[in-house]
Amino acid sequence: MQERLQKILSAAGVASRREAEKIIASGRVCVNGVSVSEMGFRADPDKDTITLDGKPVRPERDKIYIMLNKPAGYVTTMKDPQGRLIVRDLLKDVQERVYPVGRLDYNTEGLLLLTNDGEWANTLAHPRHEVDKEYLVRLRGRISREQIASLSEGVDLEDGRTSPAVVKVVRESENNTWISVTIHEGRYRQVRRMCEAVNIQVVRLKRSRYAFLDLGNLKPGQYRRLTGDEISGLMKIGRPRKK
Ligand code: URA
Repeated sequence: MQERLQKILSAAGVASRREAEKIIASGRVCVNGVSVSEMGFRADPDKDTITLDGKPVRPERDKIYIMLNKPAGYVTTMKDPQGRLIVRDLLKDVQERVYPVGRLDYNTEGLLLLTNDGEWANTLAHPRHEVDKEYLVRLRGRISREQIASLSEGVDLEDGRTSPAVVKVVRESENNTWISVTIHEGRYRQVRRMCEAVNIQVVRLKRSRYAFLDLGNLKPGQYRRLTGDEISGLMKIGRPRKK
């Protein structure tokens, strides 16, 4: 079946659709040996030979969906120029070329989804879908009512005010407090920057929930395949909305 070139590239996990458009415009994509930079161009991934920078772009046939409990000290990208540990190394029996749905910082732990379903990953990670993500934050000392109110109402960051968040105190010890922060945005280092903005010192940050999924018994570094019900539940959230 013929599809728009940017959709084919995105479904193959090459890039998001918007990035794929830029790649096409730059003339790096060839269909049957001919460079195509026209945006509406359609091709059939089963019949046409599509290449990016001379390398074949193949649709991913068997889709896999994984939940990983990411340990601190791993990068979410699939390669790291600085030679740090990457989450891919943890997926010992996964042969497919999977990549993460969104990101977690190097020092952030917790629930990370990985898939080879590029289109679904890009859609789910798109801010428009407003998927709830819950983070457990261990912070130094105590948190005041004013700080909770600020985090909940939204704080002013360099890239704009954050949307309202749900903030709860989970536990207190002599030196630390654990709070949960639920947000639906996914900006760069968002929870850390929100905490910094209200003078909270983050000791540890862990994502404990993504939409309706939680980590269950997964220990740091462990992963499992999502069940059929979990995949279809996420598909409903991630499915592109028709106008
Ligand atoms: N917020 C952060 O600050 N870091 C993450 O990894 C995720 C959310």
